Amino acid sequence: MRRKLAAGNWKMNGLLADLGQLDRIMAACPAPGVDLLICLPATLIHTASGRSASHPLQVGAQDCHRASAGAHTGDIAAAQLADAGATAVILGHSERRADHHEDSATVRAKAEAAQAAGLIGVICVGETLAERDAGATLDVIGAQLDASVPDSATGDNTVIAYEPVWAIGTGRIATTDQIAEVHGFIRARLIARFGAATGQAFRLLYGGSVKPDNAAQIFAVPEVDGALVGGASLTAEDFCPIIAALDAS
Ligand code: 13P
Repeated sequence: MRRKLAAGNWKMNGLLADLGQLDRIMAACPAPGVDLLICLPATLIHTASGRSASHPLQVGAQDCHRASAGAHTGDIAAAQLADAGATAVILGHSERRADHHEDSATVRAKAEAAQAAGLIGVICVGETLAERDAGATLDVIGAQLDASVPDSATGDNTVIAYEPVWAIGTGRIATTDQIAEVHGFIRARLIARFGAATGQAFRLLYGGSVKPDNAAQIFAVPEVDGALVGGASLTAEDFCPIIAALDAS
């Protein structure tokens, strides 16, 4: 049985003072049936993990380097994130694929580095609007999945997030039919590669404009085990109803 997962991605938002929202999320969102993860800017991870030490909420990061250490100015190794208190890291987010030209081979190497440091990798896949309009969605998702997910992936060390690029930060949500099609495809592809037991164990998150008013309909879609939430994870006011909808689903 897969545990549901509500994951927040604060992206490049938040100062120390904003960790008050994290305190509110921990205090105001009791959700015994849901795992909670907030992926923070690296500057906040150590402080946040200390503040959440006695709460089940886990703190994650948003990227790591593929190497374990070395001359990579400005980069952060997975072991350093773990040392700061992170237990997970987002990998291959479309904003990093676009802004930093990360390809799936790079994402796979980062996922292997994350595993070596004991971090869960939240590996993101998603098509652009042009790819969807061209009827290439499943080809794109299949290729990203095959090349980004390492052979050593299991349901314990890897989460897959489907985030259509055109739905991120746009307020434009994929339809439940579109989500069902892609999540069903991802599940089948994972089972074909890893076998039934391991393939069934990966948690599949949907991401892209998940809000309090659309969360319940998304969580009712088969093979959706939770969400990766951007803007609406920044405040307890928005994130708590999403967590509650997942707990109730
Ligand atoms: P929004 O929820 O702001 O659309 O962002 C989604 C996302 O990119 C999460 O990783």
